[in-house]
Amino acid sequence: MIIIKTKQEIEYMKKAGELLAEVHREIAKMIRPGISTMEIDKFVEEYLIERGAYPEQKGYQGYPYAICASINDEICHGFPRKEPLRDGDIVTIDMVVNLDGWLADSAWTYAVGNISDKAKKLLDVTKESLYRGIEKAVIGNRLGDIGHAIQSFVEAEGFSVVRDFVGHGIGKKMHEDPQVLHYGVPGRGIRLMEGMVITIEPMINEGTYHMKMDDNGWTARTVDGKLSAQYEHTIAITKDGPIILTDQGDDK
Ligand code: MF3
Ligand code: CO
Repeated sequence: MIIIKTKQEIEYMKKAGELLAEVHREIAKMIRPGISTMEIDKFVEEYLIERGAYPEQKGYQGYPYAICASINDEICHGFPRKEPLRDGDIVTIDMVVNLDGWLADSAWTYAVGNISDKAKKLLDVTKESLYRGIEKAVIGNRLGDIGHAIQSFVEAEGFSVVRDFVGHGIGKKMHEDPQVLHYGVPGRGIRLMEGMVITIEPMINEGTYHMKMDDNGWTARTVDGKLSAQYEHTIAITKDGPIILTDQGDDK
């Protein structure tokens, strides 16, 4: 069942999204070789709690941390770790902010120091695919239009779209209907309606889209050991078009 949000509820979610965007801007300043993802996790938890918010992922189905931190071949749900990030790594930081009971969800892939040209291209294509998906998040379009926009662009650039994880409706719960696939056929799937709030969060691989699961039961990584990147925004579908609730302001 899709839960439609009122304008007021979207405003509440925007407040959560603005705080989340602020956290990402802080992380962007912190990322460098030598910092650990565990330090970033601690920073995020404290930053949110000091501002009366909560890192919703912590304790969600037993997930132990405030953020997911997925390095290089890790697709998603990487655990923060004490080992420092190294020059040339890419790292996806994903988090969900709960502010007064309303949620926002956003992931961003950061370059650590100097990254290779192919890693840079993967980041650029993944981010561009997110914005191409968002463009299609308008009343009357269908979910397949979003998926197709992402998939056709990504595959033309020689990369692949992860199938095992999808975007989702979001509101007072992290995961609501509908599922938002990052691949698909134009004109297929449910019709987008005013007041829907969804995440679009393509995970894009350099090689094959197939994944394997770590023994921790959470972390998905590429089977071929090649890189994976992800950008995610929380999007409200409105009469004025898609509103990016987690917009960082300085990025598109
Ligand atoms: N932010 C993730 C999503 O898009 C949730 C990660 S799972 C968690 O659905 F357990 F870590 F919360
Ligand atoms: Co999400």
